[in-house]
Amino acid sequence: MLTVENLEVVYEDVIQVLKGVSIQVPDGSIVALLGPNGAGKTTVLRAITGLLDVHRGRITKGRVSLDGAAIESMAAPHIVKAGIGQVMEGRRIFREFTVEENLKAGGHTAARADIAEGLDRAYAMFPVLAERRKQTAGYLSGGEQQMLAIGRALMSKPRYVLLDEPSLGVAPKIVQQLRDLIVQINEDGTSVLLVEQNATMALSIATHGYVLETGRVVMDKPADELRADDDIREFYLGLRGDERGSLRDVKQYRRRKRWLS
Ligand SMILES: Nc1ncnc2c1ncn2[C@@H]1O[C@H](COP(=O)(O)OP(=O)(O)O)[C@@H](O)[C@H]1O
Ligand SMILES: [Mg+2]
Repeated sequence: MLTVENLEVVYEDVIQVLKGVSIQVPDGSIVALLGPNGAGKTTVLRAITGLLDVHRGRITKGRVSLDGAAIESMAAPHIVKAGIGQVMEGRRIFREFTVEENLKAGGHTAARADIAEGLDRAYAMFPVLAERRKQTAGYLSGGEQQMLAIGRALMSKPRYVLLDEPSLGVAPKIVQQLRDLIVQINEDGTSVLLVEQNATMALSIATHGYVLETGRVVMDKPADELRADDDIREFYLGLRGDERGSLRDVKQYRRRKRWLS
């Protein structure tokens, strides 16, 4: 179990972005972390992977633990070794490297045999990458780059993988493929924390979901309950004629749901 408890995070010692966030990712699960732009979703992932300091951020309160042991003071490479992989926002691949070089970079801590096995696994899961293994990564389509970023994170055979908005900027048809891949990754034994603004996609595969707004968890429910929740349907899934999920109606949402904040 991966656990975040009462987490508070501050950037540059002044800007408090997380105000007591608690999230659990049980072994074997897909957990969705939803919420509008700026809510603090990426910050939660940075706190888990030890990358806050790179962004002049700091945990001021709370803890992150893996199977009950605190990991919030561990350095990023050790967190990867402990079994937590991540795909950052905006698929940060090495654009000038080939597909295969990118994948190998994800397995840099592994032995040679493990790298070969990791490549086989990645190419089996993403045939499109196998076809382009010698191609420069920067020339791949958005969806292919996202697959490469995911394949790279899986090279370390993580127990947990954190995905930051994999569907962002990806064509709808490819979003379906990514969705199926996330299910497959989970079935292969990796637990998933899925950050998404695409609530429809995320809730269609998640077991549990959290909604984050301005640094606080305002909803914490099984995914099927979130799918059935009228406010979620209205404001995040956009089932009232507003195709983008009405995130700009958050103010109205708050007014109507004061008890949430
Ligand atoms: N390095 C940083 N320094 C200062 N503020 C930051 C930094 N990174 C993010 N923020 C701010 O923290 C808030 C949450 O950001 P983020 O975690 O990226 O949200 P989300 O991923 O939900 O869009 C935003 O207001 C953002 O501007
Ligand atoms: Mg983000």
